[in-house]
Amino acid sequence: MTHDHQIQTIRYPGAMRIMHWLVAMLVFVTWPLGMVIKFVRDDIKPDAYLLHESLGFMALWLMLARIGIRLTSRVPRSGNGSMAGMAHLVHAGLYLLLIVMPVSGFLATNAHGFPLVWFDILPVWSPLGKAPEIAPLLSTVHRWSAWILFGLLALHLGGVLFHHVLRRDDTLYKML
Ligand code: HEM
Ligand code: HEM
Repeated sequence: MTHDHQIQTIRYPGAMRIMHWLVAMLVFVTWPLGMVIKFVRDDIKPDAYLLHESLGFMALWLMLARIGIRLTSRVPRSGNGSMAGMAHLVHAGLYLLLIVMPVSGFLATNAHGFPLVWFDILPVWSPLGKAPEIAPLLSTVHRWSAWILFGLLALHLGGVLFHHVLRRDDTLYKML
């Protein structure tokens, strides 16, 4: 009886669930890492940047693949009425910000004159070289986006908690 809801749950396709949790793990590491870089000791700062940028860059490619998968798969609906509207708005915002974040960070570091060598192994070609005039702007976009992403994540996690704890519906199981 108690597990009826699980049996009927239409889950996201496997590839979507894997992508969701891979990107979530990356973001939960990359975001805080980005925030602490300016506080770490000078001698480990370059490593902190390298790790932050290499992980963030991975998130970009995972997100591009994920968007491709999303556009070609059937996904369960997110609720009804205005609740569905809210969920879709937050989800769309998350997709957008997870592209804007890595792209702005990548262009920023190139513009500042520090091209990315992915995990210190693979030099990454950039359409933008050193460009001190627009480097601060790109950094500003990256920093503001970080807080917009934070807000969206708060709404996202708040929504999941609301459904799971208060409504006690199957929202969370769709992604597990
Ligand atoms: C999902 C991907 C990413 C997330 C969530 C993220 C998040 C953040 C956060 C939270 C900060 C701190 C902002 C602040 O101090 O207020 C930051 C800073 C920074 N990030 Fe990222 N980042 C991502 C990807 C990247 C990538 C791919 C690069 C470069 C290749 C990059 C380069 C930087 C740099 C250089 C800073 C220092 C701030 C500045 O521009 O002066 N980030 N990031
Ligand atoms: C512990 C953390 C997380 C939990 C429990 C969680 C849970 C969920 C659940 C249950 C859904 C399905 C919602 C529905 O269909 O109505 C979902 C969708 C989604 N989540 Fe998360 N999530 C977490 C972290 C994240 C993070 C860190 C991100 C991105 C930075 C993220 C981005 C998304 C996106 C974009 C969707 C929409 C998927 C689609 O329709 O294509 N989630 N999440």
